[in-house]
Amino acid sequence: MALVTFTSPEYRDKTVYAVAGSHTQTVLKLALENKIPINFECEDGECGTCVVKVSSIDNKLQRMGGPLTEKEKTVLKQLGKVTQMELEQMIVDDLPSEWRLACQMIVRDEDIRVEY
Ligand code: FES
Repeated sequence: MALVTFTSPEYRDKTVYAVAGSHTQTVLKLALENKIPINFECEDGECGTCVVKVSSIDNKLQRMGGPLTEKEKTVLKQLGKVTQMELEQMIVDDLPSEWRLACQMIVRDEDIRVEY
């Protein structure tokens, strides 16, 4: 069972449990189900409104954030959150970006902190 802690300077932190193993639930879906006021518009990885900062708070050595989707790569570059060089390095290192689109990132079996 993954533990997802949503944190924002404007609201009290809220920790919710995500069902592990479904591999279909996005961070945004989980947030909306739990009334976390993350900004969003398109819900389709196009607008960049739902950009969040994700960090692992798990003790596992292996990060499980999963690779960025093509839409995330495009939008995060447009927003200036990642450069092409950083994207290429992430592939080499097999690490996800700390910046993600909540509507694209699938919750895995990893405890994470989501700053919105
Ligand atoms: Fe538009 Fe996520 S809501 S990119």
